[in-house]
Amino acid sequence: MEENEHENDALWGGRFEDAPAEFTQVFGASLPVDKRMWEADIAGSKAHAKMLGRQGIISEEDVDAIESGLDRVAKQIEDGEFDFEIEDEDIHMSIERNLTEDIGAAGGRLHTGRSRNDQVATDTRLHCKGLATGLAHQLLDLRSALIEVAEREFGVVMPGYTHMQKAQPVLFSHHMLAYYWMFTRDFKRIVAAHDAADSLPLGSAALAGTTYPLDRQLVADELGFASVIPNSMDAVSDRDFLLDLDYACSVAMMHLSRLCEEIIYWSSDEFKFIRLSDAYSTGSSIMPQKKNPDFAELIRGKTGRVYGDLMGLLTTLKGLPLAYNKDMQEDKEGVFDAVDTLSDSLAVMAGMLRTMTVRRDSMREGAHGGFMAATDLADYLVGKGIPFREAHAIVGKLVLECEKAGKTLQELTLEELQEADRHFEADAAEAVDIDKVVARRTTEGGTGHEAVQVQLKLAVEKLREDVAKADEL
Ligand code: ARG
Repeated sequence: MEENEHENDALWGGRFEDAPAEFTQVFGASLPVDKRMWEADIAGSKAHAKMLGRQGIISEEDVDAIESGLDRVAKQIEDGEFDFEIEDEDIHMSIERNLTEDIGAAGGRLHTGRSRNDQVATDTRLHCKGLATGLAHQLLDLRSALIEVAEREFGVVMPGYTHMQKAQPVLFSHHMLAYYWMFTRDFKRIVAAHDAADSLPLGSAALAGTTYPLDRQLVADELGFASVIPNSMDAVSDRDFLLDLDYACSVAMMHLSRLCEEIIYWSSDEFKFIRLSDAYSTGSSIMPQKKNPDFAELIRGKTGRVYGDLMGLLTTLKGLPLAYNKDMQEDKEGVFDAVDTLSDSLAVMAGMLRTMTVRRDSMREGAHGGFMAATDLADYLVGKGIPFREAHAIVGKLVLECEKAGKTLQELTLEELQEADRHFEADAAEAVDIDKVVARRTTEGGTGHEAVQVQLKLAVEKLREDVAKADEL
């Protein structure tokens, strides 16, 4: 035993005389990050072993021993009885070592025609396909929450803003559906990221392919990959699929953060547009009256770190020569963080929306201020034959007068209107009726009641279509 004290017993330890320094072992390990990929690693090894057996590269007895051994490893991990040891560097070595300790020589044959370079790329792709599928389903849930709210609150009028100044009244449902379409595009981006990962690197070995007669298509079929990566050097070096996932997460977080910002000011005393449920608010340790939209703020804040994950990986990959470089071990932590952060944020947002109270009266009251019927009053004059520019100026002057007198457009008498322009008649009152202002916006994609009903139907159809798509992932 004594003379073996400094021997390097890592799986690659053959050409080494000394063991690695304890500190560099910890520094070089990715196990704490990649151990969550254990299921992908086991699936990948099983498929590889099965193919080696089919091709006559290893015996069928070895294949059986490997398969049942890997099942035991899986059980150990599930039961929390697996020893994750940092000396193993990563989940791939960790599982292989445990397997070999259990089944002996057969375990040593598993790595025939395989390198950790194609193994790690395969496992990461497999794992990320699962993560993307999970996010796709969560996006569907958030989209259906938005539809629920839009249906429930149909008819509620609120002020629409540009430059954060009251612009024109809109249906609250229209506002909610705007977010629905953003998350619909996010769904598409996540599915695209899934598809980018859906190609098999295994069989590329370290970088150049291998001398064994591997059947890569068989492994792809076994693992459910849509295709085989056609270039072994690209296969072990490509991390585009992770960037795609990071980017898809970043855009979805950006959308969430915009919705959060609105939720935050809508729930303020100045707006009073919504009331968040207790479950999605927090109090203050000093001010007893406070009810804070903490979770909306937190999602808004976490958006920054997800952008950071994307920038971090882009920077890590910049300038890397082909093929595998250890730098690439840094690829997973940020992506997992981005996915976890988005996943949590989506769950919080869906719950927050489903449980919030819409304060219909305050929204309606808000829609009455700010002279938001001004465009319609100008359009009214256009209807009487006045050029739009002229009508714009007449109504602009009326607004100025109202502002000075502390009146709304609706409070102007017919006489006052006619003083401004003789074309005004009794039906001018209808032009400034807020519900009618909304209903008049009949353009496809506009906020009129009928147009929003059409849009809602489209949204429901698109959701159904995407549910079917997600079920196929
Ligand atoms: N732990 C490494 C990673 O996650 C895998 C090892 C790749 N191969 C190597 N020759 N070091 O990227």
